[in-house]
Amino acid sequence: MRVGVLTGGGDCPGLNAVIRAVVRKGEQHYGDDFVGFRDGWRGPIEGHTMPLDVERCRGILPRGGTILGSSRTNPYKLDGGVDRLKANLADLGVDALVAIGGEDTLGVAHKLSAEDVAVVGVPKTIDNDLNATEVTFGFDTAVQVATDAIDRLHTTAESHDRVLVCEVMGRHAGWIATYAGIAGGAAEVLVPERHFDIDKVCEDLKRRHEKGRFASIVVVAEGATPKEGTMVVNSSELDAFGHVRLGGIGQLLAEEIEQRTGFETRVTVLGHIQRGGTPTAFDRVLATRFGVAAIDAVHDGAYGHMVALQAGAVVRVPLAEAVTELKTVDPGLVEVAELFHG
Ligand code: F6P
Repeated sequence: MRVGVLTGGGDCPGLNAVIRAVVRKGEQHYGDDFVGFRDGWRGPIEGHTMPLDVERCRGILPRGGTILGSSRTNPYKLDGGVDRLKANLADLGVDALVAIGGEDTLGVAHKLSAEDVAVVGVPKTIDNDLNATEVTFGFDTAVQVATDAIDRLHTTAESHDRVLVCEVMGRHAGWIATYAGIAGGAAEVLVPERHFDIDKVCEDLKRRHEKGRFASIVVVAEGATPKEGTMVVNSSELDAFGHVRLGGIGQLLAEEIEQRTGFETRVTVLGHIQRGGTPTAFDRVLATRFGVAAIDAVHDGAYGHMVALQAGAVVRVPLAEAVTELKTVDPGLVEVAELFHG
């Protein structure tokens, strides 16, 4: 078969491991040949391709990013986008597509499969908020990066008797904040799933400082919002999927805490550091398992499905299950983090 591969949306450590696994099993086991589509859905829309074979995949397993490039292009938002995409797939003789992406990329894959495009999905996101899979690759790496950062923030916070706010990614779900906050011993963990009470946050910090502990780390997900407030954004710019660019809650929170408590407070925004660089061993293994399962799914004709991890096993689920609802943090886990507040 001739199989197209693309990576869409925000990049994520482990994407290259998926590509390598798809190509390795496809070429060596099934005798497939591959077309690499550049920059997400933009590749098939514009017919922008690159060679993709086992040789081209050598050495990419530990590399972050994606050799195919990525973008947030949405064919359904471009005039004639879907028709051009279908025409290019036909011209290139592509029999099936493996689309590796998050809710947006897989949302497009779902719509295309309803229009008879042969597509299999592979879930990815550092945010871990995709439904129907227990975990996505990239999340473990992001949590490790954030935890390492929090460990470093502790020592400088202690030296200067400061409150340090650490803003991590997580637009709609606070998985990174919750995991890294628990692992890093944060004094507060604030997530989009629960509007936070700034009075309570400041009370917790004051109580903690009264006990003689001067340094406090507050971990806040970029999508967290105060109880009575609205979403704080530093830009009203929207991407092709209608998401606003977030960022700014950490700074706002630090100013508020300093003003209300009198404790010197600074902010660190981890940003794209969480998405870049080499994947952890866990993410490399999960990404490899997903890649192998995806090319198997192509050969079984399981189009309109994505691979997923459930109860430790890699399974296939309809794309519809992955894109209808976001997977937010289990309330029990938020409560574990909250036990350590203050
Ligand atoms: O991949 C998801 C994500 O990491 C979100 O947590 C974050 O809001 C967004 O990507 C940032 O994307 P971009 O790099 O396009 O600004």
